[in-house]
Amino acid sequence: MRQTVLSHLPTDFAWADRLLFYPCVDSTNTLAKQLAAQGAPHGTAVLADRQTGGRGRMGRSFYSPQGQGIYLSVILRPDCPATALMHLTCAAGVATCNATEAACGLRPGIKWTNDLVYGKQKLGGILTELSVDSSGNVAYAIVGIGLNCSQRQKDFPPELSRIATSLGAVTGKAVDRSRLAAALLVALEEISRSLCISRKPLMDRYRADCITPGCEVSILTADTVRHATALDVDDEGALLVRFADGHTEAICAGEVSIRGMYGYL
Ligand code: BTN
Repeated sequence: MRQTVLSHLPTDFAWADRLLFYPCVDSTNTLAKQLAAQGAPHGTAVLADRQTGGRGRMGRSFYSPQGQGIYLSVILRPDCPATALMHLTCAAGVATCNATEAACGLRPGIKWTNDLVYGKQKLGGILTELSVDSSGNVAYAIVGIGLNCSQRQKDFPPELSRIATSLGAVTGKAVDRSRLAAALLVALEEISRSLCISRKPLMDRYRADCITPGCEVSILTADTVRHATALDVDDEGALLVRFADGHTEAICAGEVSIRGMYGYL
């Protein structure tokens, strides 16, 4: 698969020699973190055909069967403090939408903060992880992207079959995973160049893709559930919500998960 992905990349693509492919790993994010800790350079990408321990936010798992999805993690080494990268997951979401549109002709929506959706179903997700040095600067960031590509509805385990779908199922066309993986690398490389410089244009695009504002949401922490109306997403990637008593809050993704009042969306 590595060679086919390379064949879809521009000939002068800066990260081409840093693409690693594995038939099966525990989690591409975990492996990318290990490689980054050993000094792997900016743009190192780990792509796998299958994950046995694919991970999502809040300790959830990400279903990663062989040959049916994209499981990709990229190491970024932006030269900035961690506080300047609050919007990293949003930026990765925009890159994923750009790449999916370019390779598959379909632009997913984004359920705040990190879920790629089509209609009321989940196509995939993003897991970003940061390592910060003692001065508060980013040592490295891992951007992990998982996309369901060729599953039919009946291929998902029962607990996912109502909330998950795949790009193939919604477009009715076979998904060229190599082409999509190449498009993701190109989109991530492009976005990584402006990550610490100009946040607003990226976040404007995120706001256009994000389907959560306007929805009634449940804000879940480990021991509380609060209900509110989602209003907007700010330039740091926080979700602005209004509670029934009229007060508003900016909700940061690290703390909570969002559910629609009546289900996943
Ligand atoms: C989520 O649903 O909360 C995010 C899912 C992210 C899954 C991707 S697949 C590639 C990378 N490796 C992982 O273990 N997770 C991410």
